[in-house]
Amino acid sequence: MKDPDMTYTLANGIQIPAIGLGTWQTPDGEIAANAVKDAIEVGYRHIDTAQAYGNERSVGEGIRRSGIKREELFVTTKLTNDNHTYELMMSSFEQSLKDLGLDYVDLFLIHWPNPLNFRDRWQKANAEVWKAMEELYKDGKIRAVGVSNFKQHHLEALFDTAEIMPMVDQIRLCPGCTQDELVRFARKHGMILEAYSPLGTGKVFDSVEVHGIADKYGKSIAQVCLRWSLQMGFLPIPKSVNKERMAANKDVFDFELSDDDMEYLTGLHEIAGGAPNPDNMPF
Ligand SMILES: NC(=O)c1ccc[n+]([C@@H]2O[C@H](COP(=O)([O-])OP(=O)(O)OC[C@H]3O[C@@H](n4cnc5c(N)ncnc54)[C@H](OP(=O)(O)O)[C@@H]3O)[C@@H](O)[C@H]2O)c1
Repeated sequence: MKDPDMTYTLANGIQIPAIGLGTWQTPDGEIAANAVKDAIEVGYRHIDTAQAYGNERSVGEGIRRSGIKREELFVTTKLTNDNHTYELMMSSFEQSLKDLGLDYVDLFLIHWPNPLNFRDRWQKANAEVWKAMEELYKDGKIRAVGVSNFKQHHLEALFDTAEIMPMVDQIRLCPGCTQDELVRFARKHGMILEAYSPLGTGKVFDSVEVHGIADKYGKSIAQVCLRWSLQMGFLPIPKSVNKERMAANKDVFDFELSDDDMEYLTGLHEIAGGAPNPDNMPF
C-alpha cells in the first residue's frame, strides 16, 4: 500500500480512488468551490457530496475551476431523505446533475435507509428508489450504485427486489467505531466500505491515545487515522476546507502501522462516538 494513486475496484470493475474528499458541512459558495478546486490541485480525484449538503452547485463550480477532465474525476452524490419515491428519485437526480454541471455521476447512494417520512414503509420506498437507480445505471447516468447508513436488515430487504447489488455501503468507520458484523456482511456481498467521518468529525483530535501513536510514527493524528482506515480495507473520505490539511491527509503512503498498533486503534471504543442508529434518526 505505497501508491498515492491507489484505487479500489468496485463489483462492476470500476476503479474508485481510495481516498476521497468529504464535503459535509463545507458551506455552499466560495468555500466549497475553493475546497474542491484545492483538493483536485493537491491530487484528490474523488469528491463526496450529497443533495442534503446543499453544496452540489459549488462542488460543480470547483470541478470546473480546476480544469480537470471529467473522466479523471470520481464524483459521488446521494439521495436526500425527502426524495424516497421513484418520481422524486428521478427528478432530484436530474437536479443534482444540473447543479453539479455534469452529465453523469460516478456513484449514487441512498443516503439513509429509513427516513422519518417513510418510516412505516421504508422497504417499499427503498425498492422503488433502487429501481429508478438501476434504470439510470443502465442508461449510463450513474456508473456505480450504492447505499449509505444501511445495516444488515436494510440490505437484506433491498436484496429482495434488487436486480443489481449495491457496490458500496458508506458508513461511519474510524478508530474505535468499526461496525464489524456489518462490515463482514457487506463484504460478503461484494461491497466496498466507505469510511465516513474517518476523523470522527474532528473528535479523534482529542484522543490522547491516538496522539501517542501519532508521536510514535512522527505523523499527525489525521494521518494515523486515515492510514488505519486504509489498512482496514476501508475507503476514507476525510473532510477539510484547508488545502495544507487536505494534502497532508492524502500523504499516508510512506508508513505502515504495525499489527499491534492497528489492534490498539481498533479497540479504542467510542473515542469518536459510535455509529448512528438509522432506524431512529429524527430526519
Ligand atoms: N453518508 C453519511 O451519512 C455521512 C455522514 C457523515 C459524513 N459523511 C461524509 O464523510 C465526510 C467526512 O466526515 P465528517 O465531515 O463527519 O468529518 P471528518 O472527515 O471525520 O473530520 C472533519 C473535521 O476534521 C478537521 N480536519 C480534517 N483534516 C484535519 C487535519 N489534518 N488536521 C486537523 N483537523 C482536520 C476538519 O476541519 P477543516 O475543514 O477546518 O480542516 C473537520 O472539522 C463528510 O464530509 C461527508 O462527505 C457522510
